[in-house]
Amino acid sequence: MRVVHSPLELKKLLKEEQGTIGFVPTMGALHLGHRSLIEAAREANDLVVVSIFVNPTQFLEGEDLDAYPRREEADKKVCELSGVDYLFYPDASEMYGEDEVSLNAPSVRGYIMEGNSRPGHFSGVLTVVNKLFNIVNPTRAYFGKKDAQQLMLIETMVANLFMNVEIVPMATLREKDGLAMSSRNVYLSEQEREEALKIIKSLRTATQMVMKNELHVSRIREEMLAILAPLDVEYVTIVNRSFEPIEHVEIGNTIILVEAISGTTRLLDNIWI
Ligand code: PAF
Repeated sequence: MRVVHSPLELKKLLKEEQGTIGFVPTMGALHLGHRSLIEAAREANDLVVVSIFVNPTQFLEGEDLDAYPRREEADKKVCELSGVDYLFYPDASEMYGEDEVSLNAPSVRGYIMEGNSRPGHFSGVLTVVNKLFNIVNPTRAYFGKKDAQQLMLIETMVANLFMNVEIVPMATLREKDGLAMSSRNVYLSEQEREEALKIIKSLRTATQMVMKNELHVSRIREEMLAILAPLDVEYVTIVNRSFEPIEHVEIGNTIILVEAISGTTRLLDNIWI
């Protein structure tokens, strides 16, 4: 595995390579969820590139940019053992200059739900993903469904800007107790983690309601909110796969999303129905 810090050097090295490139963009603190993305990339492509970059432009003032877990050595081992060919580890100074061109998230779908709780967050995500795609020029790029809104906005960017990359959505991996895997789970105390399990409980209840043919979005939300009461709930939203509001669950075309804060940790989860 080759570790590369310079964007221009990586661009040059990859241009000299033959075959398809599977790309997994991450912010590090890699867990089994990331490994499943790397494994999928390994299976379907000739080369695998992973990036680790805690992107400052997607953090709002006062968020956890400085505290975000950084595990350089452990992450390198994970990548090496997972058969990664190139690990891209840039510094912020190499990724951003002064007075830059940047991308804006779409004014509706980029500013609802997580985009409403964190205004501007998705513009930072799209700007960095665009830069990373231009550096790596991947055939396929792998993103987790846990960040469903991010996934939808990246798919939208790729379509709107006529980009040559296939986005591959990957299922959410969960801890034994059902908590969705996330690098931020390390922030949770034992009690906060216990409380965080209300999120998966609420999503499972919603699924059971749908299985019993309760398709009214308002009734499902009501049940979920009752379960989530001990947490600081940012939103419980039920939308179709284009992220438009719906009144009735449409099987095969619905996502139920939750964002809630346990202690000081923002947790996202969702179920695709
Ligand atoms: O999901 C993430 O880890 C980040 O938002 C991403 C896509 C790597 C962009 O910084």
